[in-house]
Amino acid sequence: MTFEGRVALVTGAARGIGRAVAAALAGQKAGVVLNDIGPEDKLQAVALELSAATGANVIAIVADVKRYDEVQAMVRQVDRTFNRLDILVNNAGIIRRGSIETVTEQDWDDVMAVNLKGTFNCCKAATGIMIRQKHGKIVNVSSVAGKIGDITSAPGYGPSKAGMDALTKTLARQLAHYGINVNAVAPHAIETEMSAEWPPEKRKAIIEAIPLKRLGRPEDVAEAVLFLASDKAAFITGEILDVNGGFIMD
Ligand SMILES: NC(=O)c1ccc[n+]([C@@H]2O[C@H](COP(=O)([O-])OP(=O)(O)OC[C@H]3O[C@@H](n4cnc5c(N)ncnc54)[C@H](O)[C@@H]3O)[C@@H](O)[C@H]2O)c1
Repeated sequence: MTFEGRVALVTGAARGIGRAVAAALAGQKAGVVLNDIGPEDKLQAVALELSAATGANVIAIVADVKRYDEVQAMVRQVDRTFNRLDILVNNAGIIRRGSIETVTEQDWDDVMAVNLKGTFNCCKAATGIMIRQKHGKIVNVSSVAGKIGDITSAPGYGPSKAGMDALTKTLARQLAHYGINVNAVAPHAIETEMSAEWPPEKRKAIIEAIPLKRLGRPEDVAEAVLFLASDKAAFITGEILDVNGGFIMD
């Protein structure tokens, strides 16, 4: 799988799954734009590290995916720099813990704004270039919580991911005739800073419920994203691909 000559934009790429996706794309010689909300020096440091390790052209752009004006400016900068955009990975996401009793209206709004509206914003801004090219791959990083709900995240996280799944299928239908594939991955229990807060008993119970008997690694998700972003997945669109060690099989 080579991505030489292709340009990818990965949101939330300063750490965790987004960083692993960006590293894997750079490793396959794609030009990569790392996006995150900041701080800028941290994101720049990741870009320098990845380009030194892979020889790929990796740049960093700080933007808040919740803000359409910032997303639009970022995509314009990508267009000016590379004059193309082949792959958009909507990975930026946040989670809040709690129940319907403890969740606040602000928690709901924050999670929806980053996870669902942020994905919409990036798709809307990026598809202009992809339609012009008559080619593009969008991969959304959803979650198992969008399919079956989740007992520990505050209500809002699962619905935001279910919304991303529906947005994936809607855009897959609307953009197919432009040669744009839109898919998602639905990870579960990946070892990142988002999951580092789990107490040991919870971690043990989570592993016990996974047939492959381990937590996922960011690289496991990156491999699935790269497949969906590649020409090997040319006839796949509107798919929500499980990356969950067999936790749910649908
Ligand atoms: N870790 C898991 O077990 C797991 C499971 C299922 C789905 N996911 C999803 O995978 C994605 C990445 O998760 P992770 O575990 O790597 O999380 P993480 O918290 O380690 O990384 C998320 C990144 O997104 C960035 N971000 C947050 N808000 C942003 C904004 N408004 N604009 C731009 N960037 C922003 C953060 O700064 C951070 O660098 C998320 O969408 C998450 O919901 C994670």
